[in-house]
Amino acid sequence: MNIDFKALAQKYQTPYYVYDFDHITKQYTELKESFRARKSLIAYAVKANSNLSVVKHLANLGAGADCVSIGEVRRALTVGIPSYKIIFSGVGKSDDEIKQALELDILMINVESAAELNRVEIIAKELGKVARISIRVNPNIDPKTHPYISTGLHENKFGVDIDTAKRMYIQCKNSEFLEPTGIHCHIGSQLTELQPIKDAVKIVADLVRNLKAIKIELSFMDVGGGLGIVYDDEKLIDTYEYAQSILDVMFGLDLTIVCEPGRFIVGNSGVFVTKVLYEKINGNKRFVIVDGAMNDLIRPALYGAYHKIEVLNENRDFSDCNLVGPVCESGDFFAKNIELPVTCHNDLVAIYSAGAYGFTMSSNYNTRGRVAEIAVENGNDRLIRRRESFEDLIAHEIEFIK
Ligand SMILES: Cc1ncc(COP(=O)(O)O)c(C=O)c1O
Repeated sequence: MNIDFKALAQKYQTPYYVYDFDHITKQYTELKESFRARKSLIAYAVKANSNLSVVKHLANLGAGADCVSIGEVRRALTVGIPSYKIIFSGVGKSDDEIKQALELDILMINVESAAELNRVEIIAKELGKVARISIRVNPNIDPKTHPYISTGLHENKFGVDIDTAKRMYIQCKNSEFLEPTGIHCHIGSQLTELQPIKDAVKIVADLVRNLKAIKIELSFMDVGGGLGIVYDDEKLIDTYEYAQSILDVMFGLDLTIVCEPGRFIVGNSGVFVTKVLYEKINGNKRFVIVDGAMNDLIRPALYGAYHKIEVLNENRDFSDCNLVGPVCESGDFFAKNIELPVTCHNDLVAIYSAGAYGFTMSSNYNTRGRVAEIAVENGNDRLIRRRESFEDLIAHEIEFIK
């Protein structure tokens, strides 16, 4: 990544997120190419980074969208992703969301419970429509990742077990308002081992064969997202091996493969840049305090996630410290017990691998405006979301002041 963080800080102030769009292109293309032997749809998981310019960039490359709210569906449509490339997942879709998804005629709804299938059927009947259904199977496989981003075990809230899924497909087959279209599983995020993915896809492929035997034919097999990225020194799954192992398991099945990567596409494409405000020592403990905070990038606080961090100065005098933000929580840190050089007021700090689940998980906690987002493409930078002002923060309340 060849980005001049200092020039961007002068132009746009700090903190900011910057995304390397050429890297996004590279990641998308690598995955799409890995599946070139088959019909495939790369449905980008919008939750990872839902900035319209990011989603538009992927739309231009041919991506579809995996969405978990009607808001995300509308983001995808806004930038021109065709409805036939949009999938809607999530354990708790409201009636209104289901209605809108049917009216918008998206590719399929990933249904995550028998109760939800009943709601979809009722709403489709009311609208006089046929709902294309994919059922999210929970294969009860341990994905070997952080428990907060593990989704494929029965103890997790996601999807349904195999027997329930089978009953739900039979319900679809017998209904005038439901069309069994796809099957889905997503066992977790930041996956660095291939075996759990192979195991999960095998369970799903076996179910597809069972369904075929009872004359339920599906068109799409959605293997979820989850491919891990390098934050530290992780050894990654090779995308060609990943694709090949899925194709092997699907032997004899003529379904379009859908893959829903989020982190893999945008994670290493983004950097969060913040600047040093102060240093201080409490007892023996050194703190470096920056202008970014947990409300901007919550992953360290939420998951204890590691991000590579670099102070952009020439100082070689490193010592142990905690890198923290101004928010009034002891959980407001980017790193604890990290070796950083002595810093000065306004030194920049780059926090890498922040393109996924960074800005999208940010909040206005402590009445802090969300930061600016910048795209860099072919060496040119442009603002893709302006920094929020105080007026933005109070806009929805001002009319209620008595
Ligand atoms: C259903 C579904 N698909 C895809 C993803 C994207 O995961 P990742 O960003 O790890 O690729 C998620 C993440 O939570 C998900 O829940």
